[in-house]
Amino acid sequence: MVESLADYEALAESVLPSDVYDFVAGGSGSELTLRRNRAAFDGVTLTPRVLAGISEPDTSCRLLGERWELPVAVAPMAYQRLLHPEGELLLAQAAAAAGIPYVISTLSSVPLEKIAAVAPSWFQLYWLKDRVIGLMERAVEAGCGAVVVTVDVPIMGRRLRDLRNSFALPPDVGPENLVDKVTEVRAHTAAAFEPAVSWDDLEWLRERCPIPLVVKGILDPRDARRAVEAGADGVVVSNHGGRQLDGVLASIDALGPVVDAVGKECVVLLDSGVRSGLDVLKAIALGASGVLVGRPLLWALAVEAVDEALELLKQELRDAMQLAGCADLAGARELSHGRP
Ligand code: FNR
Repeated sequence: MVESLADYEALAESVLPSDVYDFVAGGSGSELTLRRNRAAFDGVTLTPRVLAGISEPDTSCRLLGERWELPVAVAPMAYQRLLHPEGELLLAQAAAAAGIPYVISTLSSVPLEKIAAVAPSWFQLYWLKDRVIGLMERAVEAGCGAVVVTVDVPIMGRRLRDLRNSFALPPDVGPENLVDKVTEVRAHTAAAFEPAVSWDDLEWLRERCPIPLVVKGILDPRDARRAVEAGADGVVVSNHGGRQLDGVLASIDALGPVVDAVGKECVVLLDSGVRSGLDVLKAIALGASGVLVGRPLLWALAVEAVDEALELLKQELRDAMQLAGCADLAGARELSHGRP
């Protein structure tokens, strides 16, 4: 029985090949940051308000100029056809039905145009050598509402599970937005990504990008300021789900200083470790405008339960808001919070 979003992982593990399970579940190095993301969320305490007279909490929000049913987006995640033959299309359709944005990965295993046709989408851009403008223009042409530039992957983190498994993509799953033939994901990153990308490049892209631009992978408030100075409309406080530099702080711990630095000037989103509606509420209370959810939705995809998973997340958030005495997300932002 599935009673919480976190329940899908065990179900998925029982149906997936173990190397695919490891590719999704794993982090880099000793997985210190992967574990820290969860420990830090668990350590956040909220102080509820009572007698708030709420019958139906309102979970809706505005992000990047549009109204959404939940302050949640589907995180960009590569190669979703590893989990289910329909991959990105199934998860994007569920996002559309739930009224939340779907973030298309540069490395999606279904072409971005097909995904953008079924869901309100943002496009995640990896800085691939010589191909940034072409991909950005395709995303704009396809009707994506924002470009999300991921800045924490100059090279791929050392993901020991994948190295030990000699993880390789099956022949029928590949990066459909690119002409590249990929089997070894790590070797592809090393060959195709531009490692020396800089703030100048971001400013150059900002000048050419006609839609909102969000920078994903910020942990230091000084970088958040640089992003705003470069013209970013938003930042995602993220450590890539513990998959890049191991040992970095939990993103929920990085959130407060980033909100203090740029929260009045741009949208501040958060990902890495969100596993429940309660975690969404905690992130909002700590100053996020919204969150991205990653692995739990891939686990749900593996067992063809993405609609149910997003409904469960919404119900968890509503229950948490009602128990905390929050009529809406503005009320959630007023909650007192702390650490034990
Ligand atoms: C990712 N992530 C990611 N990020 C990105 O910007 N582009 C990408 O293509 C991918 N691909 C990807 C694949 C897989 C299998 C995972 C698990 C993650 C990172 C993702 O967007 C997000 O930052 C984290 O997954 C958030 O952490 P949680 O929710 O998984 O803990």
